[in-house]
Amino acid sequence: MAISVREIGKTFVAEVEGVDLSRPLDAETVAAIRQAWWDHSILVLRGQSITEEQHIAFTRHFGELQDHSVKDWLLPAHPEILVLSNRGRGGVKPLDNGGAYWHSDMTYEAEPPMGSILHGLTVPPDGGDTLYTDMYAAYEALDDETKKLIEGRMAIHNYRHRYMKMAEGGKRSAPTAEQLAGWRDVEHPIVLKHPDSGRKALFVNEGFTVAVKGLAADESEALLARLYAHCVQPQFIHAHKWSPGDIVMWDNRCTMHCATQYDVSKYERTMHRTTIKGAALCQAVAA
Ligand code: OGA
Ligand code: MN
Repeated sequence: MAISVREIGKTFVAEVEGVDLSRPLDAETVAAIRQAWWDHSILVLRGQSITEEQHIAFTRHFGELQDHSVKDWLLPAHPEILVLSNRGRGGVKPLDNGGAYWHSDMTYEAEPPMGSILHGLTVPPDGGDTLYTDMYAAYEALDDETKKLIEGRMAIHNYRHRYMKMAEGGKRSAPTAEQLAGWRDVEHPIVLKHPDSGRKALFVNEGFTVAVKGLAADESEALLARLYAHCVQPQFIHAHKWSPGDIVMWDNRCTMHCATQYDVSKYERTMHRTTIKGAALCQAVAA
């Protein structure tokens, strides 16, 4: 297949054309997509009509698959697929506005995912976009004083806080004893050196970062709030408006994303996500 890669809007997002994932991909095409994903943090492939097996097989080209820690939304026949559906398609629990807060996926794991591949099956005609932000650009735009302040510091991430907040809002089942026992603090550098590109990116997120290590609670809270506000300025954001069949794949280590609202009673929104395992993130080198 002759593929073309075109930046759309911002340099961290590109659309890949000329690929049909329902047909076998030759090595050259896979290599070209891989290269495009190294060059851009987010790739968009439109009009893909694929089976669950094809979605999983495509994902395997980029690494091993990672199951989600919450089993409620794993497709029974293919637990590698997480179903985000407000209608609970595929026999999973309905999920309304699942990721409607700025986050990177599963950073509460010691080894956060390298990336995710999201396939839009049924999407609302209005709303339900996914916003993405460029965490390389956000880091680079920080003033020198802030860069110095955060360089070499670690942040603590834990799923408990987010999950309990959702459970209180009725959006999650009460946590099981196994979940309660499994949630622990993990640490990642606030500024990470991306393992593939070597570039520095900010790596804190409203979803799962709970504190900056070594700071008093009020200082930590103020610093995180300031960093979050900085990262989501319009100049760093790309909005993806979904059409059925779209695939968006993101590098989870240098982007954040956030689902936007839509009328959940009026429209169905059903997406399938696969997740690719990552490695522990090492400490960034000095500024
Ligand atoms: C995800 C996610 C956002 C969306 O799949 O990880 O956060 O818009 N999705 O569905
Ligand atoms: Mn997510």
